[in-house]
Amino acid sequence: MKYGKYLCHLHRKPFIPIHHMEAHALTARMHDHSIKFPFLVLLISGGHCLLAIVRNVDDFLLMGQSLNDAPGEAFDKMARRLKLRNIPEFENLSGGQAVELAASKADNPLQFNFTPSLLKYKDCNFSLAGIKTQMTMHIMRQEREHGLPPDAVVPDVYNLCAGFQLVITRHLCHRVQRGIEYAALKGLIPKDKQTLVVSGGAACNNFIIEGLQIVCNEYDYRLVRPPPKLCTDNGIMIAWNGVERWNVNRGITTDLDSVTIEKSCPLGRSIIDDVTAANISPKWVRLNKLINRQSNNEIQQNNLLQFKNKQ
Ligand SMILES: *[C@@H]1O[C@H](CO)[C@@H](O)[C@H](O)[C@H]1NC(C)=O
Ligand SMILES: *[C@@H]1O[C@H](CO)[C@@H](O)[C@H](O)[C@H]1NC(C)=O
Repeated sequence: MKYGKYLCHLHRKPFIPIHHMEAHALTARMHDHSIKFPFLVLLISGGHCLLAIVRNVDDFLLMGQSLNDAPGEAFDKMARRLKLRNIPEFENLSGGQAVELAASKADNPLQFNFTPSLLKYKDCNFSLAGIKTQMTMHIMRQEREHGLPPDAVVPDVYNLCAGFQLVITRHLCHRVQRGIEYAALKGLIPKDKQTLVVSGGAACNNFIIEGLQIVCNEYDYRLVRPPPKLCTDNGIMIAWNGVERWNVNRGITTDLDSVTIEKSCPLGRSIIDDVTAANISPKWVRLNKLINRQSNNEIQQNNLLQFKNKQ
């Protein structure tokens, strides 16, 4: 910030302070000019998880946010707990990439029981802590049952990762579905503009995106995800937000002293209470297609069929 102020001073330019999460929310418009306000945005990263309606460059309605952990953080912690880096193939991957790759090798994503969070709460808040706890319990039970040495990876690691990724996807889909229905109920997003933008580091996870795509198809929403390098934290999105603000002349200042860094700055105006009051209970869109897609060779297919028959 100091350097930015110095540059502004030196070249007699105004300063445009940028909100990190607003920048994430608006990046998609850089690539795809057909995304018009208002649209729905789901931001999932290592530090954030929130659902909002973007009405303008500087007008956000916050529908829900995480009560505890963010998805990226959950993936990282669990990848570490599972010691995925001890498998050579995974040694250089981030936690999120490792879990996604491990999950893609699963032969039975439903081997372990997971329950999505906040099923009782008719809001759009998120909670990842409980899911992490379920995962930790499964890992501990496996370690106990197999009497594993400290560095060992549990035998059913692929199915475990698949179950974990699936329940997170389900949870995100639930909250988005309620958000979509709320927006429809209140007429907040016109029919011809129905768009869901998904961004943030965890938006690089293709499985999550496919799940959200199924929900979007059901509600006639278009799903847009910026290219991966723009989903993760980057400088381009900050610059783009500057362009957006410059174009409409909002939030541009020459009073450099007024510019400060806020460690924690809420995104937009919260409508969480109103979302909760609407008391919406959607009929959950089924993600079966996604689970089936996860088994892509014949043997795996057979296992899954057997499992489905048992169910
Ligand atoms: C991981 O990175 C190291 C160092 O760059 C490299 O030697 C190794 O082959 C990489 N492993 C994989 C699986 O790509
Ligand atoms: C949802 O989140 C908001 C703001 O973070 C909080 O005030 C509210 O209590 C949360 N709802 C539940 C059920 O915890």
